[in-house]
Amino acid sequence: MSDARRYYITTPIYYVNDKPHIGHAYTNIASDVMARWKRLTGHEVMFLTGTDEHGQKVEKAAEAVGEAPQPFTDRVSTTFRDLASAIGLSNTDFIRTTEERHKRACTVLWERLAARDQIYLGAYEGWYAVRDEAFYGPDEIVERDGQKYAIASGAPVEWMREPSYFFRLGDWGERLLAFYEANPDFIAPVSRRNEVLSFVKAGLQDLSVSRTSFRWGIPVPGDPDHVMYVWLDALTNYITAAGYPSEDMPFWPADLHMVGKDILRFHAIIWPAVLMAAELPTPKRVFAHGWWTNEGQKISKSLGNVIDPLALIEEFGLDPVRYFLLREVPFGNDGDFSRRALISRLNSELANDLGNLAQRSLSLIQRNCDGALPPLAPPTEEDRQLLEPLGALPDAVGEALDRQAFHEALERVWAVVRLGNGWIDAQKPWALKKTDPVRMGTVLRNLHTALRVLATVLLPFMPGTMNALLDQLGVGEGERTLATLKALPDGTKLPPPTPLFRKVEAEG
Ligand code: ME8
Ligand code: MG
Repeated sequence: MSDARRYYITTPIYYVNDKPHIGHAYTNIASDVMARWKRLTGHEVMFLTGTDEHGQKVEKAAEAVGEAPQPFTDRVSTTFRDLASAIGLSNTDFIRTTEERHKRACTVLWERLAARDQIYLGAYEGWYAVRDEAFYGPDEIVERDGQKYAIASGAPVEWMREPSYFFRLGDWGERLLAFYEANPDFIAPVSRRNEVLSFVKAGLQDLSVSRTSFRWGIPVPGDPDHVMYVWLDALTNYITAAGYPSEDMPFWPADLHMVGKDILRFHAIIWPAVLMAAELPTPKRVFAHGWWTNEGQKISKSLGNVIDPLALIEEFGLDPVRYFLLREVPFGNDGDFSRRALISRLNSELANDLGNLAQRSLSLIQRNCDGALPPLAPPTEEDRQLLEPLGALPDAVGEALDRQAFHEALERVWAVVRLGNGWIDAQKPWALKKTDPVRMGTVLRNLHTALRVLATVLLPFMPGTMNALLDQLGVGEGERTLATLKALPDGTKLPPPTPLFRKVEAEG
């Protein structure tokens, strides 16, 4: 069983029907910050991402380009691996649902459910949206120009009628409600939790968990005319990677499933019900974040406004993009992507506020102290105005991140960055060289301390740039954690500083 020093976080596994876009990068980056923060605070982290490769949607996408599904998924899955490396994802595993380990886990889980009488054979008749790979009830459908659509997602639906196995989801409503009640933090944010609660209270139906009208899926054990419903297959990935069906699953249950709001019900209703039915431990938390639009418009292929994360990184650099995505929008809310907003945050918050604080302080150490770290001195009243808020910062950031409030964590960090800039203006170390060189040294030493704490708490958000800053601060690679913030020896030689961020010309 998992213990408190271990942390297991997952992203969704993405459909390989199309190449990655900004939405996938967003979920991945948010998860990456959590994973890196937990490592920084001494946890052993398992961090899973991957691709969802079965089902009708993927089969059709392969067909559309005249490829067989396996080579097609091999090819598209690679683009998600490329995204992971381009955004600096620190995942420890990358799962593909076409892997043998996963087919085995799905097969064993199915057998376990069947052995507990949780699955039975029947026939499904109703609406299905291939784009969502989801079933919809009659009250969840609208008709426009002779075509029916799912209200929630706008995806076209078709009438489906075929033999199917069912999972007894309808029996689990009361137990799910008791589970939510006993685990108030299981679904976040709270507004989404309330949506799920009312959906479950309205009554659940048994869930169709197999299909016979196409072949691209994992065969149902003992009845190979059926392939498993792609969502049952997909959700199982989280335990496959944790070792299922082995008894030895040190990282299970997961601490956090990070998902978009579009797929919350699958994670917050179906998944815990399946696990309870199989008598397996349930995950601790599901966070459903909001939706990005592009300059006010829904992002879609047909509108031609899909944002390519790789192009964005190419243009602005990785860390400004990581920072922007998590700073711009309160995590959980929908957000609008705008180049102007990105450029403005890059120029003012990164280059001016943080970049200048580092550049000013480190250039003075270079110029006035011969690049050697001035000695520590007992703090004065004025020093405490900087050092006390600084000392409280790591816990404040950790508290916000435990709620996945990335924007709040960054706001707290920037409050200290601004404090640092105000403090250096008030202390005027450049004016002390002749009048009071000892005090000048103490001021610069305190600024060094401040930059070190700032760089360390920001490592999960901007690992490349903050490692570069820690290099400039003379902090060894083995000392870049919260447990190793102890002071550097007086006189440590610091390399000449170089700017951390490049400003970008503002646009119209
Ligand atoms: O649903 N804004 O995969 P998927 C923010 N295979 N996030 C977005 C987004 C946007 N505009 N667009 C996509 C699937 N996302 C299933 C998941 S998990 C067992 C199976 C992100 O390729 C967001 O995380 O459609 C969303 O939940 C996910 O991509 C959907 O990816
Ligand atoms: Mg989708």
